[in-house]
Amino acid sequence: MSSTDELCSLRWDPVSKGVEVIDQTLLPHALRWCRLESLPAFCHAISTMQVRGAPLIGITAAFGLANALAEDASNENLARASAALMATRPTAVNLRWALDQITCAVKSLEPSQRPLVALHRALSLREEDIVNCERIGANGLQLLSALNKDQLNIMTHCNAGWLATVQWGTALAPIYKAHASGIPVHVWVSETRPRNQGTNLTAWELHRAGVPCTIVTDNSCGQLMRQRKVDCVIVGSDRTAANGDVCNKVGTYLKALAARASDIPFYVALPESTIDWSCPSGEQIPIEERDESEVLSIGGLDAAGDYGEVKLAASHSTAFNPAFDVTPADLVAALITEHGNFDASVKGLQQLGAIASDT
Ligand code: MRU
Repeated sequence: MSSTDELCSLRWDPVSKGVEVIDQTLLPHALRWCRLESLPAFCHAISTMQVRGAPLIGITAAFGLANALAEDASNENLARASAALMATRPTAVNLRWALDQITCAVKSLEPSQRPLVALHRALSLREEDIVNCERIGANGLQLLSALNKDQLNIMTHCNAGWLATVQWGTALAPIYKAHASGIPVHVWVSETRPRNQGTNLTAWELHRAGVPCTIVTDNSCGQLMRQRKVDCVIVGSDRTAANGDVCNKVGTYLKALAARASDIPFYVALPESTIDWSCPSGEQIPIEERDESEVLSIGGLDAAGDYGEVKLAASHSTAFNPAFDVTPADLVAALITEHGNFDASVKGLQQLGAIASDT
């Protein structure tokens, strides 16, 4: 994979001056771009998960705020639009981080100057995300190479590939780098109930890149690790606390426990923008609770190729649907970041912070 010749998840058209995103709710059955032209459209895209994945949520929100300022650059609208975007999803801290980046760039400016500056900052956040994710790939490749395997079997959960960022991804970036450097890689993709980001997104993007992969049920992952069919696990993160606790898609914690029980390294790949320095531990991270319909029904193609939703549960059944969980830092073998690889601990995070503030 190179950063220039592959698809990206969000593009800016300088001619029509518009933002387009891949509508991820349609994948893997259709690849359709959708144009975001108003604040409600940006909010809708994030809350309905047309775009998702912590870094991409942040970049989309940055463009959404820039779009809102192009309509009305007053202080009132800056606060109103930022609050509307902030309310779309609670867990991924990149959302708050990206809105802060735009707000800091414009708040001391005259309203007439704000739209252009906000757009340029959103464009630079997009470029920085690509560079950071490629660095995460290079740093993660060092850890994969150190495993010294002729063939690497890597397990991942949810989607932390280029669909969740702009290009490269976080957890998948080291895998793309390993594949490009000629290391034979095979990926165990856990389906990631209830929204199936593994089945629908990760398997789709790995297949496009020619990386061999196999979809497995979430419940089979512990057994695969116990049977030593997994050399390491790499996942992304939606928010990492200052003590190294990691919040990621629900089911991540169970994988980390199984990896520890089988003595398999469990890596978490994330950009610095995913670290919530104000959050002392995973206990304080807000966990999004999504609608029970995601658990009680499922969507897919019927025999005629038409998309539809079917009910799984009896009509009287109810469900609880937390979208994320917290993995304690001591289960994490390393945090793979654009600044290098660090211990998941207060000390490791402090080292990361010191290096980040020098760059
Ligand atoms: O609910 P989603 O699909 O937005 O959740 C995404 C994840 O949990 C990813 O693993 C996480 O954002 C890391 S992405 C680079």
